[in-house]
Amino acid sequence: MKKTNIVLIGFMGCGKTSVGKKVGHKTGYKFIDTDVYIENSEKMAVSEIFAQKGETHFRRLEKELCLSLSEKSGHVIATGGGIIKSAENAENLKKNGIIVYLKASPHHINKNLFKDNSRPLLSGGNKKEKIKILMFERQLLYESTADITISVSNKSKEKIAENIIKEVRKFDKNMRNTRPKP
Ligand code: S3P
Repeated sequence: MKKTNIVLIGFMGCGKTSVGKKVGHKTGYKFIDTDVYIENSEKMAVSEIFAQKGETHFRRLEKELCLSLSEKSGHVIATGGGIIKSAENAENLKKNGIIVYLKASPHHINKNLFKDNSRPLLSGGNKKEKIKILMFERQLLYESTADITISVSNKSKEKIAENIIKEVRKFDKNMRNTRPKP
């Protein structure tokens, strides 16, 4: 496989981090989680960044990171669920990456995040309703940004990781075959 990055996008709680780590192990690619990278550089949790410095600041950090990630190769990148709201981010991630959308139903997300309080955009009020609304707003964006879409509901993390590698290999090969010969 060419050392193109594998970029995982999708809604909060769809499994980008845990599946991404598995894909990293299986391929030998290095794993990066954009939220963790930002948390380490700011020395605080995403929820604290939102509370103390604001979402705009967080989005600015995401933007800077996407720009630097466009220079990298051989990485599996698990992105924050809102990263593709910026067309510039999507463009940068695509420069050297195949974009894989991990598609999950609101029910699946709700099940995964039932006890989770680390997502500021879902905190306070009716979480189930917030997930539905935000997913409705973003669904098309995830789909139009993705090169590959993989449904994650009712699949084990192992199976999803295997699916991703298989589909990325197929996509990568087709891309090479359709490029004009020098
Ligand atoms: C966000 C998703 C989170 C994190 C932040 C904002 C979003 O990442 O970046 O809370 O806007 O969807 P995960 O998708 O890893 O939960």
